[in-house]
Amino acid sequence: MNLLVTGGAGFIGSNFVRMVLRDHPDCRIVNLDKLTYAGNLENLAGYMENPNHMFVRGDICDADLISQLMDEYGINVMINFAAESHVDRSLVDPGVFIDTNVTGTLTLLKVALERKIDRFLQVSTDEVYGSLGPDGFFTEQSPIQPNSPYSASKAAADHLVHAFGHSWGLKVNITRCSNNYGEYQFPEKMIPLMIHNAMHDKELPVYGDGLYIRDWLYVYDHCTAIWQVLTKGRIGEVYNIGGNNEKTNLEVVGLILEHLGKPSTLIRHVKDRPGHDRRYAIDSGKTMQELGWSPSVTFEEGIARTIDWYRSNTEWLNHIVSGAYQQYYESMYRDR
Ligand code: NAD
Ligand code: DAU
Repeated sequence: MNLLVTGGAGFIGSNFVRMVLRDHPDCRIVNLDKLTYAGNLENLAGYMENPNHMFVRGDICDADLISQLMDEYGINVMINFAAESHVDRSLVDPGVFIDTNVTGTLTLLKVALERKIDRFLQVSTDEVYGSLGPDGFFTEQSPIQPNSPYSASKAAADHLVHAFGHSWGLKVNITRCSNNYGEYQFPEKMIPLMIHNAMHDKELPVYGDGLYIRDWLYVYDHCTAIWQVLTKGRIGEVYNIGGNNEKTNLEVVGLILEHLGKPSTLIRHVKDRPGHDRRYAIDSGKTMQELGWSPSVTFEEGIARTIDWYRSNTEWLNHIVSGAYQQYYESMYRDR
């Protein structure tokens, strides 16, 4: 398989690239990433020289570049991880979310259709389904009801992917996964942000009452699910992926504090996120039954592994939290 992986220098994309290079030596990967604030070549350390991995800095909105890569490397499969991925940023500056998540996906789809590739896999999110009350789960049949500019842009992309499959027979799949955590996650997202703050005895900014619920999945298990969809998924189908592991934000923060031996007095309840989705919970039954996938890591194991990784990789973290990150943190949290 000759794969074009987009966004492969980000959190999930880099975990996926490392997994494929390690476990599937018959695959060749062209990794196209714009290296925005979230893209980081240190996420690929040890894999840049791998002969099956070609990293290219570029934008998924650049049709000429994508066409050239397709021809040069005989690409027959595309996996689109590239995105603006943070809800809070989308509430401040939604425009770039439309550029990358919608126009970028459309650009990839057009080239994929011209080249009649074997598979186009769109990495989407459970957030396209909106928010749940206290009961029930999102299934693949749940209505698409996004609430933030981020999830609206991801939903628009999903509709385009479906339309290219439906109208012109492009061989597509969409995966919709719940919240990921694990190694190499940018510390704007809740888990690494709280780990970093707790490590430095800084306040932990919990939005609102902290009783919002997310279904957490260890990033490696998301990557294995994507691999199963790519190799065994039925063309045109959507597959939900989740950890069956619902936790309130306060429960997660409590576990982080406990593991690091820090006091709960570090918790500070701050102004809520506008339009904050109350609960996500995913029914992954179709993916498990049809594709034989299941998560391999419990939350307790995964979170311990993740915290230990951040503790042992202070250099990686320090490179990020110096510079632009400090301005971001100030602007998001100063008046909260
Ligand atoms: P991330 O923000 O860590 O990484 C995104 C990557 O995309 C970065 O390397 C960035 O440089 C690159 N990128 C951004 N704009 C680009 C452009 N125009 N052209 C090329 N590259 C570009 O994101 P992540 O958390 O790894 O998420 C990856 C994908 O998975 C996204 O599509 C996201 O919507 C989806 N997803 C994320 C989660 C989660 O919990 N993080 C859960 C479900 C789905
Ligand atoms: O569900 C999948 C989605 O999960 C992905 O599509 C997104 O790309 C990813 O960012 C994530 O979105 P969330 O908004 O759920 O993740 P985040 O880590 O930003 O927030 C998780 C929860 O923690 C949410 O209820 C908001 C809360 N939170 C977050 C931050 C950053 C806080 O209480 N304090 C914080 O400082």
